Amino acid sequence: MPVPVTVVLLAAGRGVRMKSARPKVLHEAAGRPLIDHVVGAARAFLEGRPGSRLVVVAGAGREELVPHLARTAPEAAVVVQDPPRGTGDAVRVALPALGDAARVLVLAGDVPLLTAGTLARLEGALDADPSAGVAVLTALLPDAGSYGRVVRDGNGRFARIVEARDATPEELSLGEINSGIYVFDRAVLERGIPRLTDDNAQKEYYLTDVLGLAVADGTGVVAIPVDDPTEVLGVNSRLELSEVDSLLRRRAARAAMAAGATLIRPDTITLDAGVTFGPDAVVEPFVSITGDSSVGAGTRIGQGCVIDSSTIGASVTVRPYCVMERAVVGDGAIVGPFARLREGTDLGQGVHVGNFVETKKARLARGAKANHLTYLGDCAVGERTNVGAGVITCNYDGYGKHHTDIGAGVFVGSDVQLVAPVTIGDGAVLGAGSTITKDVPADALATSRVPQKTIEGGGAKYRERKTAAKAAGK
Ligand code: UD1
Ligand code: CA
Repeated sequence: MPVPVTVVLLAAGRGVRMKSARPKVLHEAAGRPLIDHVVGAARAFLEGRPGSRLVVVAGAGREELVPHLARTAPEAAVVVQDPPRGTGDAVRVALPALGDAARVLVLAGDVPLLTAGTLARLEGALDADPSAGVAVLTALLPDAGSYGRVVRDGNGRFARIVEARDATPEELSLGEINSGIYVFDRAVLERGIPRLTDDNAQKEYYLTDVLGLAVADGTGVVAIPVDDPTEVLGVNSRLELSEVDSLLRRRAARAAMAAGATLIRPDTITLDAGVTFGPDAVVEPFVSITGDSSVGAGTRIGQGCVIDSSTIGASVTVRPYCVMERAVVGDGAIVGPFARLREGTDLGQGVHVGNFVETKKARLARGAKANHLTYLGDCAVGERTNVGAGVITCNYDGYGKHHTDIGAGVFVGSDVQLVAPVTIGDGAVLGAGSTITKDVPADALATSRVPQKTIEGGGAKYRERKTAAKAAGK
């Protein structure tokens, strides 16, 4: 039985280099706030470990962060560190919230590529060394930049971490950096934290000093390099945000392909983290699929589509340049090209929605068709009903929205306007060009157009008149 762990997620830093009014961890990469990615990794790591908990250290910007966590990570306990006086001070604030766990995992809220597998490997390194009380995840980087450096002794054993701003030139040249991710035996933290001082270049309480203190106390520290150094990339600036965003989207593309989807020219395709695909789905170039979207097996998404928070079934054809937002598309449907499915669109199995059709809060039942130049808003369309070209539901009267209910097997002629609220019974036929303002019962025929007038020879006379006028220079 794995022991319970408390995860402490540090998110109280100011994030000054983002130059932003929002807390850094709420900036988005691959469509989700940075902290959501980290919470996802923490959750996956804690799965199946009863008694574990998640503590988030919040600081400046907590007015935004706390409600966000209440929505997305209600299991998290939030503690406040204000002002931020260093990572060691942040963990000190979290100590009373640790619960019963004998083990503590410390993470930062701005490392969105981190995976649960790596956390498990880090903990495994601690378990494997009975003399060790801390495991720290490191990375070997060609350019160690402003990261803290790992200093090892003559035998290659971990000695301490030195922050870049406190390091000697010799220490600065070390290529192994501290990722800021650690697994602690709780006792080591509780012994070390109260002994920290702010006697350093930043006048901060450094969590990293707890590791040096552990070594001085004779407790071993294991430092293991991460397999893929991109996993520990932190975000401190907009440039770094764009870099982790690209990496996360590439990871989403790889996951799509691993699930059996074909991505044509994947570098041109934008996927948010968490978008799912069934086998044999095909995504053409320059498509964007974001939010909580899913694409079913055998479905093809045509070039240039922009799809957000939508559920697309199996064997669907979405032709090029469609825009969808919070829509549901049933199996076997055919959509587009150039269709716009807005929020609350629900297309049943085998529905056809063609070019220049806009739908909003529209439920089209199985087999219904609206193939050309149509607006369907606040309406229900029954099974097998055919909606002709240019049909409009007049759902808005300048004050409120009204509903249109069209039954099954209805034929709506071209250029019909349905002035809502209005109900059309099953099997009714609405003549082309009609303005329908009153309910139509089942199987009725309704038209509302002006009777046609035909003048024999009138066309020829019209041309004569016009030709003569032109010749006279009029
Ligand atoms: C820290 C490490 C450094 C490591 C780097 C990895 C220390 C002293 N240094 O650097 O060795 O290479 O992480 O990214 O720990 N935070 C708080 N309260 C604070 C300060 C920070 O909650 O008072 C949070 C931040 O929000 C962030 C995390 O801690 O999530 C790391 O802080 P940051 O300032 O980015 O790291 P450094 O101190 O630069
Ligand atoms: Ca800092």
